[in-house]
Amino acid sequence: MKQTTFTLGQSDMPKQWYNLAADLPTPMQPPLTPDGKPITSDMLAPVFPTNLIEQEVSRQRWIDIPEEILEMLAIWHPTPLRRARRLEEYLKTPARIYYKDESVSPPGSHKPNTAVAQAWYNKQFGIKKLTTETGAGQWGSALAFACNMLGLECKVYMVRVSFDQKPFRKTMMQVWGANCVASPSNETSAGREILKRMPDTPGSLGIAISEAIEEAVSDKSGKTRYSLGSVLNHVLLHQTIIGLEAKKQLKLAGEKKPDVVIGCAGGGSNFAGLSFPFVCDKIHGEEIDIFPVESSTCPKMTKGPFTYDFGDTAKMTPLLPMYTLGHTFIPAPIHAGGLRYHGMAPLVSQCIVEGLIKPRAYSQLKSYESALTWARTEGFICAPETSHAIACVIDEAKKAAQEGKEKVILFNYSGHGMLDLGGYEKFLSGKLKDSTLSDLELCESLKVIENLPKAKPQKTGKW
Ligand SMILES: Cc1ncc(COP(=O)(O)O)c(C=O)c1O
Repeated sequence: MKQTTFTLGQSDMPKQWYNLAADLPTPMQPPLTPDGKPITSDMLAPVFPTNLIEQEVSRQRWIDIPEEILEMLAIWHPTPLRRARRLEEYLKTPARIYYKDESVSPPGSHKPNTAVAQAWYNKQFGIKKLTTETGAGQWGSALAFACNMLGLECKVYMVRVSFDQKPFRKTMMQVWGANCVASPSNETSAGREILKRMPDTPGSLGIAISEAIEEAVSDKSGKTRYSLGSVLNHVLLHQTIIGLEAKKQLKLAGEKKPDVVIGCAGGGSNFAGLSFPFVCDKIHGEEIDIFPVESSTCPKMTKGPFTYDFGDTAKMTPLLPMYTLGHTFIPAPIHAGGLRYHGMAPLVSQCIVEGLIKPRAYSQLKSYESALTWARTEGFICAPETSHAIACVIDEAKKAAQEGKEKVILFNYSGHGMLDLGGYEKFLSGKLKDSTLSDLELCESLKVIENLPKAKPQKTGKW
């Protein structure tokens, strides 16, 4: 029988996370206050616990994973590496396509890899309640799951359009004991202010983040903190178990290295989790093409500038050096809610500046077409976010066929779509449309960053 699944034993789970900041050829530019001064750790203390702030600023290459976190991750890890042989045959490609199956976690995506870690560090610090935002609902349900495991209270602000499109994600959060409200809401002043100006807004991740931070910092007991599902260094760090496991599994499959690595990218966490251990190999001389894939409806990496911007709409976060469409940008309501974020993780952004990775953008319709090809060859129904990675995989596999090259393509299967069938239903009945950002809309949305400090795109010019 031809082998399609490559599994590791629990004892093979990585015992340390990999920190790319230690290996980047040019150092990261620091987060800033609105008047351009570097942020200090104590400024972040009302928002995050000190132990996670230490990870956020760490330049240590390997960071030990505490035993209790490993035990929680072991509920679904190591996740399988699978070979998509049926897709290969359908595409008549000489490429060998592998995917890391992160859909097998209890909430159905990669998100609990960092949710359990963040909840654990918060609990160690004496925190009783976490607040957060969620787009598609995958992150909110992952944090609800993690808080339930650790006995913490959890409050989730879910972007309005996803709240309406995906009601069962809210139910999932409630099953794990969390409280989920639609954002913008009347529960915070940031939410009320936006509702007054735009009562019918579909919402955005930037708005939901503002609401969740506001609730955390206004708890006078000091026992509430905010938790972010992507973008920040420590979140990306926690996701690196994906790539570290995949490396070992590729060896089991008899492959020396991947030629192409692909992941969809909203704030950058699943892409970084899979790719950063391979970015490290590339820095040290390996030849690998690495593609983060965004939605063409929210094209920060392919159309936005690299500069300082706020991570949220109400400007509560520090200024981060990143690719951005402007912190007030509200993307059209595509079904891939997790890709509707205006910015990109600073670490991923710096890899783009260096030329180590090359961003791609795919439309909603092309991505759903690819999701159908996937489901009709491999069988699994993917999350709408993941379908963007699959669209890129299919193009790369076709390119390998044209060039007659036996490439090894590795991608992150970041989540399943079993709670996203509403989007599939609309696609199948021809009701979905594409919306591409025009140059005029882009200029308009970038006005909010005109007077903010500028990031310097520093690079070595090696890649
Ligand atoms: C299944 C899935 N994939 C990808 C993403 C995008 O997020 P990130 O770029 O942080 O991995 C999300 C976000 O909600 C998601 O739910």
